[in-house]
Amino acid sequence: MRIAIGSDHRGYSIRPKIVAFLKNMGHEVIDVGTFSQSPVDYPDVAEAVARKVSSGEVDRGILFCGTGLGMCIAANKIQGIRAVPCHDDLTAEMSRRHNDANILCLSADLLGERLITRIVEVWLNTPFEGGRHARRVEKIAAIEKELKEKCCCPDPQQSFSEENDTKAQ
Ligand code: RB5
Repeated sequence: MRIAIGSDHRGYSIRPKIVAFLKNMGHEVIDVGTFSQSPVDYPDVAEAVARKVSSGEVDRGILFCGTGLGMCIAANKIQGIRAVPCHDDLTAEMSRRHNDANILCLSADLLGERLITRIVEVWLNTPFEGGRHARRVEKIAAIEKELKEKCCCPDPQQSFSEENDTKAQ
């Protein structure tokens, strides 16, 4: 699998260990940094990884920040991204089986190396179940598509369904 990985300064120490682990597993890894301990803004790193996943340059992404949360919020702004914050092997497994998650966001501050390695392994090895879950994931993509098409929505306070109701009258 081709995997893009990135972290802010909080994930600076753990990321190279996970890069080595991924390569050991036989994956092709694109490491977008950060490559120093100086503080960087997590949205910049999240965007770099998410764009690679979104464009199909890589199959999956892995992101680290202090909590895993900021990276997740930022990555999910990019089209086609289903980024998830996982804290244990069960959430990692379910995020793949039911949500077809394509970016894994991890806390560098709150999780130990052993647990992180386990989460990564489970997340990469668990297939998407498809079936009824595919229908639900497709609905997420449909919302995204509709929002993109209506990006010049005249009244941002008005919900799309309200807008459509108005148009139908
Ligand atoms: C950086 O201080 C920290 O805010 C960041 O690593 C992350 O935890 C944000 O969600």
